[in-house]
Amino acid sequence: MEALAMALGASREMTMAGAALLGVLCHQTVMKPFEVDSRGWEMTVSYLSVLGGLFVGYTLSANYALGDALVRTASAGAAFLVGLYGSMLVYRAFFHRLGHFPGPFAARLSNLYHLISMTRTNLQYHLHVQKLHSRYGDFIRTGPRELTVLRASAVDLIYGSTSKCTKGTWYDQNSGDPDKVGIENVRDKERHRIRRKAWDKGFGVRAQETYQPRIKQKIDQLMDRIGTGKPVNITQDNIFYAWDVMGDIAFSHEFHMLQTGVEHPAVDGLHWAMATAGVVTTLPWLMNMLRVIPGATGRFERFASWCTEQLNLKREVLAREKATGKPKESQDVMTWIINAQEDGDRSAPPSESAIREDARTLISAGSDTIAIAFTNFLFFMASHPSIYRTLQSHLTTTFPDGPSTWTYTRAKSIRYIDHLIHETLRLRPPVPMGFPRQTPPEGLQIDEVYIPGDVIVNVPTWAIQRDERYFTDALAFRPERWESLSPEGTGMAYLPFQKGGFACVGKALAMMQLRMLISIVGLRFDVAFAEGEDGVRFWEGAKETLTLWVPELRLVFTPREY
Ligand code: HEM
Repeated sequence: MEALAMALGASREMTMAGAALLGVLCHQTVMKPFEVDSRGWEMTVSYLSVLGGLFVGYTLSANYALGDALVRTASAGAAFLVGLYGSMLVYRAFFHRLGHFPGPFAARLSNLYHLISMTRTNLQYHLHVQKLHSRYGDFIRTGPRELTVLRASAVDLIYGSTSKCTKGTWYDQNSGDPDKVGIENVRDKERHRIRRKAWDKGFGVRAQETYQPRIKQKIDQLMDRIGTGKPVNITQDNIFYAWDVMGDIAFSHEFHMLQTGVEHPAVDGLHWAMATAGVVTTLPWLMNMLRVIPGATGRFERFASWCTEQLNLKREVLAREKATGKPKESQDVMTWIINAQEDGDRSAPPSESAIREDARTLISAGSDTIAIAFTNFLFFMASHPSIYRTLQSHLTTTFPDGPSTWTYTRAKSIRYIDHLIHETLRLRPPVPMGFPRQTPPEGLQIDEVYIPGDVIVNVPTWAIQRDERYFTDALAFRPERWESLSPEGTGMAYLPFQKGGFACVGKALAMMQLRMLISIVGLRFDVAFAEGEDGVRFWEGAKETLTLWVPELRLVFTPREY
């Protein structure tokens, strides 16, 4: 009590010096050794509670007037922050274990550098990182404990199935509790592996066979929509297509966007969220804090509540089927996941919030990615007519009687189609960012460079897939290069779907859709830029909004004669 009375009675200067020291201590003993990225609110509340206690102490025990007590409390609070951030900045700038890695000075101080660069480059951070690498070299520090690594040898070490790295704190942006998050945000490898089993069933060969005829039907609708010989905004139509497919495959829900040409509000909700998240997730702790503020997630709610509604409807349908004793075979991915939860399977999402996030991940990961990939493919075809003609000659050889004889089995046998897909995903990866992983405690040796433990590392997908050292004439669209390259090969600087246990669960489905889309469009239409369209705005205007947002692209599809 006496000590408290002394502390409260100390001079303002002494109090401020003590508070600043406490700030330094807090950095050294709490914030430096522990991962606090998902504890923003706890820390803010603790800070404000201490200040509140101090204010009460000044007014009740030390009998200061209200105004004086307020000034003293505010000064102590400010001094604490000066100590805390002063210690943090000095440590990060001069004493950090990553101090010898080159990079912009501001980046070593705070991840605000990432946020500012993202906004300054108008959401083209992927291009900024590429420039940083040409200036500073292959290993650069882009944040206080963040490194980006432009080496093919790093791909398997960081992401491969035997890598000891796990997901970085970036994935805690929704919650730090692994039982509350969707599969993509599960950071622990073992937990993730178990959760993935329910998903693998929803994407297995048998499941995929049930999706194929429904996808074909939607592709036919897309072709009927675009194939009028008049200019179309293919960016928009491909979004309609991809969302119609995902509604069906995820929930057996029909959006009918291809038929009506009207965008569902959930689409706008997700796109708004992606553009915002592209900026805000540069500071994952900020995203984590904003999430719980009502209204802060804005139009995202339209998407989130639509997903929850679909999830609940699906549960009702399944419950009715079970009650009649005649449950149908799973027709969509969510059925597999709901069944896992109801059967108490170990692979099931462990909570209501986890399954809701799973539903959102499924739609967001599987829709725009396909739309972006196919739009980019069509851009390349309009700008490389001779390559499109080569595709068409392969198709004519395989299907001499035209589109009516199309089958997926035969389309899949055309290797040139896979080369076109790889080349499209190489030059325009639908997810251009480098995915953050955390090095194991013992660190990571990449070629001649040792990276200490507990560091966030990534290989920037966009930059490495355009690196001349790994792809001759890297900026040219040359599908033939894949004749002698293996996309899955060790040491390949190619990772559009990511690699290892955390890689895209929908990859086989994505490849199937793209093969179907490419073979059918090539069989049915010639493609060209619409009048007044040169593709420049489309090419230069792509933005990193987690996925690669692409501008309007106006094309004309002319039916082929058979
Ligand atoms: C060209 C198309 C696609 C590309 C380029 C792509 C790319 C990716 C990448 C890079 C990841 C890893 C993200 C990370 O490490 O944080 C991922 C994860 C994921 N993708 Fe895809 N994807 C595509 C299509 C699809 C489709 C069609 C679906 C579903 C129908 C899908 C569902 C998912 C899911 C659920 C995850 C999270 C997997 C997990 O964490 O276990 N993706 N995708």
